[in-house]
Amino acid sequence: MKSNKEKVQPEKETTEALLAEGRVLRPLPQLVVDANLNPNDYEDAVKQGRSDLEAFWGEAAHELNWFKQWDKVLDRSDAPFFNWFVGGKTNIAYNALDRHVKTHRKNKVAIIFESESGARERMTYYDLYRAANKFANVLKSLGVKKGDRVAIYLPNIPEIAVVMLGCAKIGAIHSVVYGGFSALALREQINHAEARLVVTVDGFHRNGKVIKLKEAVDEAMTASPTVEAVVVVQRAGVEIDMSDGRYLWFHDLMDGEPAEFETEEMDANDPLYILYTSGTTGKPKGVVHSHGGYMVGLNRTLKWVFDIKETDIFWCAVDPGWVTGHSYTIYGPLIVGTTTVMYEGYPLFPGPDRMWQIIEKYGVNILYTTPTTIRMLMRFGSQYPKKHDLSTLRLLGTVGEPINPKAWVWYYENIGNQNCPVMDTWWQTETGMFMVAPTPCNVLKPGSAFKAFPGVHVDVVDANGEPVEPGKGGHVVVKEPWPAMLTTLYKDSEKYKEIYWSKFPGMYLAGDIATKDTDGYFWFQGRSDDVLKIAGHRIGTVEVESALIIHKHVAEAACIGVPDKIRGEVAKIFVILKEDVEEDEDSLVNELKAHVRKVLGSAVVIRGIDFVEKLPKTRSGKIMRRVLKARELGLKEGDLSTLED
Ligand code: WTA
Repeated sequence: MKSNKEKVQPEKETTEALLAEGRVLRPLPQLVVDANLNPNDYEDAVKQGRSDLEAFWGEAAHELNWFKQWDKVLDRSDAPFFNWFVGGKTNIAYNALDRHVKTHRKNKVAIIFESESGARERMTYYDLYRAANKFANVLKSLGVKKGDRVAIYLPNIPEIAVVMLGCAKIGAIHSVVYGGFSALALREQINHAEARLVVTVDGFHRNGKVIKLKEAVDEAMTASPTVEAVVVVQRAGVEIDMSDGRYLWFHDLMDGEPAEFETEEMDANDPLYILYTSGTTGKPKGVVHSHGGYMVGLNRTLKWVFDIKETDIFWCAVDPGWVTGHSYTIYGPLIVGTTTVMYEGYPLFPGPDRMWQIIEKYGVNILYTTPTTIRMLMRFGSQYPKKHDLSTLRLLGTVGEPINPKAWVWYYENIGNQNCPVMDTWWQTETGMFMVAPTPCNVLKPGSAFKAFPGVHVDVVDANGEPVEPGKGGHVVVKEPWPAMLTTLYKDSEKYKEIYWSKFPGMYLAGDIATKDTDGYFWFQGRSDDVLKIAGHRIGTVEVESALIIHKHVAEAACIGVPDKIRGEVAKIFVILKEDVEEDEDSLVNELKAHVRKVLGSAVVIRGIDFVEKLPKTRSGKIMRRVLKARELGLKEGDLSTLED
């Protein structure tokens, strides 16, 4: 890696200049010269993605290993159940591990793990390959078969990669439940997936404390009849109750198994995992991803957007329980054969420079994180990044919510030292891969995620499905299938059709509102449906309301999202109390907040709870959240007409 001094210095732009209307950031010459995709190739890729979608993605698929090549790149005959790489046989884990250990990557570091206490651990591709093989054997010994579901409730530790890859190797379907969700959410998701096995941990370290994750599993296990065994990783070394005959130690099981395993040959469209985008309302929405199309999408997007080089250290600093962790902490980086960083703890522990310290310590080249994290760290000022040598960084990235230009520019100036463009990537659990995102050879505008990735057909349309004029808000849609797309919603193909494909015939509805400017750049504004984005996490307003309703004092409840400087959005709640409640308001507010946390988990951040006499409703009794929102934000109702249906 060249030092920053040797690089051609781009013209420096000041914060003011970048924020000024119409300013753009030209590609940095030193990045363009070395880019995996040069500007001409980029234009060609866009053209081919338009003129011959199948040829474009077929070529992309040839970069990976197939036990048997596909007969057809894309089969639309059962639309909207699109079939990618029909007839092809592969396994994503074979592409992430097995094929690399036959090359120079065998002894390359696959995972750098940093624990919150600062201890480091490195696993080579060969180490990870052997561990995943052992876990695949563990699964077989426990009687788990291809197609069975395995629930994973683990923090950001290497074992989560071992377990996910072990599942993929035998063809079991994993369902990772985010650690910030509660025991109830865990139970609902386990039961919906009918998981036979759960993998969890005794505890892990976060913000100086030990989080005893297994306690939530104990609670969930009281009503999870399908679960036959619970495998427990020993991490924090805390005292836990292992007396239930279903509990088994991960290390005991691993010790007894051989490190060889013949990776299962899967059909390209066989399910790899389920990831729930809502899971507590009794109607869980489990997004399903496949082996074949998904890996093709990850490989291509990661190589082009983050321009991965053989020597790179790539850090996608998010929780693996989120789709971003699935795609770009674990599967994507391993498929392209890079080194991926995993950090167990809290970004502010023990101080606000923890992330910058990690970058310096490992010489991280690419950092991918969220606007919430950037805004949180920005609050502490630039003296913290200044304490560290961040000169190894080449590219920055962001995901999960709109990034305000101010945070974009702070990130660009203080973390990237004006040498690293910020790749703002728009995508979803459902899309599996980046959909709207730049590459290092594109002209950027702070706050815009640029344009659709080559071979991806995202657009913004009005209520009639017609493309909107520049500057006008509309619905985000995808007009052609893409390889990493969800294949269905688990056990609910009707809902899959209804939610994503019924509003505009032939188009996938993303549920977001955006505008495009005169240059065709996308500006995402938020969700159009009743989904909150709290620090990037998706929470349904209905989930929050349902959680409140079960409290003994609550008669009715409504939840809306209100803007928050750090988290992007937080929940504001309106409650109609039952008649004979005598507690004072302050203690009730605290009680209800604690109740919601207990039911849904710590991911739900509540700004305020108002007690009201009435809630605005339609004649059919549906709560008009739009009215509440307009009042709360001091707007006229019409101002929100593009925001919510
Ligand atoms: C939002 C996360 C603006 C959007 C990968 C989307 C974004 C939802 C961006 C999906 C971005 C994601 N700019 N908004 N760069 N990336 N979003 O499923 O509302 O957790 O629909 O997937 O996050 O959230 P999910």
